[in-house]
Amino acid sequence: MALSRKTFLRVLGGGIVVAAGAAVAVPRLDAMPASAVEGWRGPGPEEADPRRRALAWALLAPNPHNLQSWSVDLSQPGAIVLFADRTRLLPQTDPFSRQILIGHGCFLEILSMAAAADGYRADVALFPGGEWRLDRPVARIVFVKQPGIAVDPLFVEVPRRRTVKGKYEARTLDASHKVALFAGYGAPALPLAIADEPGRVDRLRALAVAGSELEMNTARTHKESIDVARIGAAEIAAHRDGISLKGPMIWALRQTGQMTPEKAMTPGTLAWNGGRDYALGGYGSAQTLQEYPEMAELRAAMHRETGTPDGAILQMFFRLGYAGDPGPSPRRALQSFVTV
Ligand SMILES: Cc1cc2nc3c(=O)[nH]c(=O)nc-3n(C[C@H](O)[C@H](O)[C@H](O)COP(=O)(O)O)c2cc1C
Repeated sequence: MALSRKTFLRVLGGGIVVAAGAAVAVPRLDAMPASAVEGWRGPGPEEADPRRRALAWALLAPNPHNLQSWSVDLSQPGAIVLFADRTRLLPQTDPFSRQILIGHGCFLEILSMAAAADGYRADVALFPGGEWRLDRPVARIVFVKQPGIAVDPLFVEVPRRRTVKGKYEARTLDASHKVALFAGYGAPALPLAIADEPGRVDRLRALAVAGSELEMNTARTHKESIDVARIGAAEIAAHRDGISLKGPMIWALRQTGQMTPEKAMTPGTLAWNGGRDYALGGYGSAQTLQEYPEMAELRAAMHRETGTPDGAILQMFFRLGYAGDPGPSPRRALQSFVTV
């Protein structure tokens, strides 16, 4: 959007943007570009191949830093061979690609639900080439026609799923919701616990905040997030991945030269402080589980606090709460995942 030279703008500490002469337009600045989120409508009518139809849903899965590290080979009829895209990893913060693989698990789960909705059973063989390495597949999935196959009731929720990165409402977990969450949990081999006693929540929160602070203050790990930060609508539309920074405040900071990757790497700047507030306010919640050496002590403290036994790994730690819909995050086009 072209701004008249006369339009002036002030950014106040509290996050208010004042733009003389543009008061109505401001809230729309830097909105999420429609092209970046078109995938949330599911497969287009031109997609006839059931594998591609299921993949169009699977790519809506949650995944670390929204890198969408999925790469699929469709060269074998009726089968999908899934690899990790080795150009889309997080070597500093996720050195073993453990979290990248969790994202693959989420992808496979939605893929199976979507296949069933089309009348196919997805037979998933994990790590068919042996113990996983980057050059080996994560999974091979064979589509088998099975009319009448049950469809997971959660499938209809896929277009509405979101990761909420902002603050949650100040509201405790409803007891009936807690019961329903446990009832719907289908992986007994991986114990699930919900911490909702205030003292315990405070201790866990303090560890999470410490983890976020440490990550931001470790240049090489912080840089990994900054490198995938997409600042403003144009960058978001160009990449359709990564961490989207958008909205009037970001727009204003960009216009005034205060939101650049360099500034976001420099403690004390508005960009740094804003990122810190954002991370500590919400999204930095799971960072204590990162497996780089500097995090070892906090990770051990988190294992102690959650009663994770020696030798076991706390796979995920996440916030649970109530919040409005933050809107969908970007996804790349289906074709960009298909390598063969
Ligand atoms: C293994 C894993 C770890 C994640 N860790 C975090 C995290 O620490 N903080 C966070 O806000 N989101 C985290 N996410 C969520 C992703 O950032 C999110 O899925 C991605 O940006 C896409 O957004 P969406 O889930 O709204 O589609 C994680 C997701 C996965 C699968």
